[in-house]
Amino acid sequence: KENFDVPIVIIGSGYGGAVSALRLCEAGKKVILLEMGLNWEKAGIPFSNLLKPGKSSAWLKKKSIAPFMNIFPLTPFTGTLDRLDFESINIWVGRGVGGGSLVNGGMAVTPKENYFKEVFPNLDAEKFYNYYFPLVHKELKVNIISEQFLKDCPYYKFTRVGEKEAHKAGFKTIRVPNVYDFRYMEKEFRNEVPRSALNTEVIYGNNYGKNSLDKTYLKKALDTGNLEILDLHRVDTIRMNTDKSYTLQVQQTDTAGTTIAHKIFNCKKLVLSAGTMGTLQLLLHSNAIHDLPLHKHIGKNWGNNGNFMTGRNWVKPLSGGTGARQSTIPVGGIDNWDDAEHPFFTEIAPLPMGMDVATALYLLINRVDKKGEVYYDPTNQSLKLNWDKSNTVKMRENARYFIRKMNQANGGTRSHFLFHNGFGADICYHPLGGCVLGESTDEYGKLKGHENLYILDGSLIPGTIGVNPFVTITAIAEYCIENLIRKNEFSV
Ligand code: FDA
Repeated sequence: KENFDVPIVIIGSGYGGAVSALRLCEAGKKVILLEMGLNWEKAGIPFSNLLKPGKSSAWLKKKSIAPFMNIFPLTPFTGTLDRLDFESINIWVGRGVGGGSLVNGGMAVTPKENYFKEVFPNLDAEKFYNYYFPLVHKELKVNIISEQFLKDCPYYKFTRVGEKEAHKAGFKTIRVPNVYDFRYMEKEFRNEVPRSALNTEVIYGNNYGKNSLDKTYLKKALDTGNLEILDLHRVDTIRMNTDKSYTLQVQQTDTAGTTIAHKIFNCKKLVLSAGTMGTLQLLLHSNAIHDLPLHKHIGKNWGNNGNFMTGRNWVKPLSGGTGARQSTIPVGGIDNWDDAEHPFFTEIAPLPMGMDVATALYLLINRVDKKGEVYYDPTNQSLKLNWDKSNTVKMRENARYFIRKMNQANGGTRSHFLFHNGFGADICYHPLGGCVLGESTDEYGKLKGHENLYILDGSLIPGTIGVNPFVTITAIAEYCIENLIRKNEFSV
């Protein structure tokens, strides 16, 4: 086995990992980032689009795993999209240099201030809304579609129809910012540049247009000369040594998932940014194998961010369907959060199937009244989740209310074509929590019971944030790493 002694290791290159990498590198620290997925830019392999799933479409699977249309046989490859299947819920996650930013829809939504305060009562909300959120908007290159383009572009008929219908049903709509460059999209439409959002690219990666983390935080971090990213390096276990440093068991794989080298990394400081499920897997598995000390709250306060998918089939030709050609980037949302009885937010999602299926898709985000818990099953050496129908009762009620109101005003039926009974309670894109800030960590993400281990990713957020989460994950990571650096936590 090859042995490496390095000062600082970050595990995972999603939002938490990318922010940590940039700020540590800017502070003059040498950083090694271990990422189990592929560096797609370096590999020079194009991402596949939704209609022709190829190499990038699934993490080492024999069949494509998008929530819909899974008839495509595949040769297992270290693709960008993975699905973790639990008894009552399936969780989709991104893999590769850039983590979830490679696969996600780019919706860059700032949480409502009063809900942020409710979720994080101990954080200085004013500082977040005046400083951290504007900072991450700038770094992530968040922008907004022009109203004229939205009005004119045939690829946004699904949004225009969705908004009109929502208004007719008495709902309020909002414009949703995104990290996809809308100026680029306008050029796509005029055929001046290669197409991506207008060519059914999303969830298996975007070849153009999207400012994913490899184009923003990670690029800036690499430009400092202090960052080395090792892709296709999967960390299997973490051991704490007697001097409170860490030893990591790592497997380097090829793109077929076959191990080509076993490596050991010894590091003084460890930042764990493997995403909610990856971080919990590493902590709980390492606890079982190497007795890694764990705080009693690890795994608790987990939630699906209220994710609940639903859809409507149009029966009324009056609406004119949702359009055969659809941009993959959502720009509209329905904001019903302030309704005391049925609080929810939903994106008006595209369904770019290449034909007019006259169907509307919605990813509702609800409050999480009953949290779940992640724990370790030693027999299968895998994670288990305490999460069942009882956790989603209120979400289902909200979805039912929403669809009924939309159908009453506009016609249409609940979409049995998309989901069994019309409700996708088991689809989760936003796993959050399990290592909650200030519960199992100190106020800046340092794991309790440890001197040199920091958690910086979605697992810090207690299961809910009321909107799509990456803006919040990025802002929390900025806040934590700034304070950790200020406190000289990384002086190695
Ligand atoms: P993230 O999951 O991004 O990164 C973790 C990284 O760690 C991954 O690259 C993983 O491969 C790596 N890793 C894990 N275990 C490892 C190990 N043992 N060794 C080495 N590396 C390891 N959010 C939003 O705000 N707007 C949106 O539009 C969407 N849309 C969306 C669509 C889809 C299909 C998905 C799946 C998700 C979204 N999201 C979203 C959610 C968003 O992408 C997600 O919340 C963030 O990516 C989470 O950021 P983290 O930093 O927590 O980890």
